[in-house]
Amino acid sequence: MRATHYAAALYLAAAAPWSSAQEPPPAPDGSPTAADPSPRQLFETNCGACHSLDLPESQRLNRQTWRWVVTDMVEQFGATWITPEQQDIIVEYLAENYGAGK
Ligand code: HEC
Repeated sequence: MRATHYAAALYLAAAAPWSSAQEPPPAPDGSPTAADPSPRQLFETNCGACHSLDLPESQRLNRQTWRWVVTDMVEQFGATWITPEQQDIIVEYLAENYGAGK
């Protein structure tokens, strides 16, 4: 008895990295799950939830003070849904647009 072995030659084709890449579906405009809302959108959506946007927009504060204000909104007034990343973006937006001396 003689078993015949078929040696399967495995040619490992170089994996094509693009073959499994998937384009993320475009997020619908204004959706809260939108991957990349603009800083302005983040500000309007989150900072307008409890009071008028006039409250922050009428202030001119430096970055550090905006940081305190935003932290206060989260820790004192319960805006805990705003993630730390979003807080950073909002502070940056406020310092740029409503900074001291603007
Ligand atoms: C969970 C509700 C809530 C959210 C969300 C919120 N605030 Fe406030 N905010 C308050 C309350 C309450 C006050 C104080 C009462 C008042 O003056 O109406 C206040 C007051 C302020 C003031 C006036 C200054 C002060 O300290 O009295 C500013 C400026 C301000 N908020 C900015 C922001 C910004 C910027 C955001 C977004 C990051 C934000 N708020 C989001 C509740 C909120």
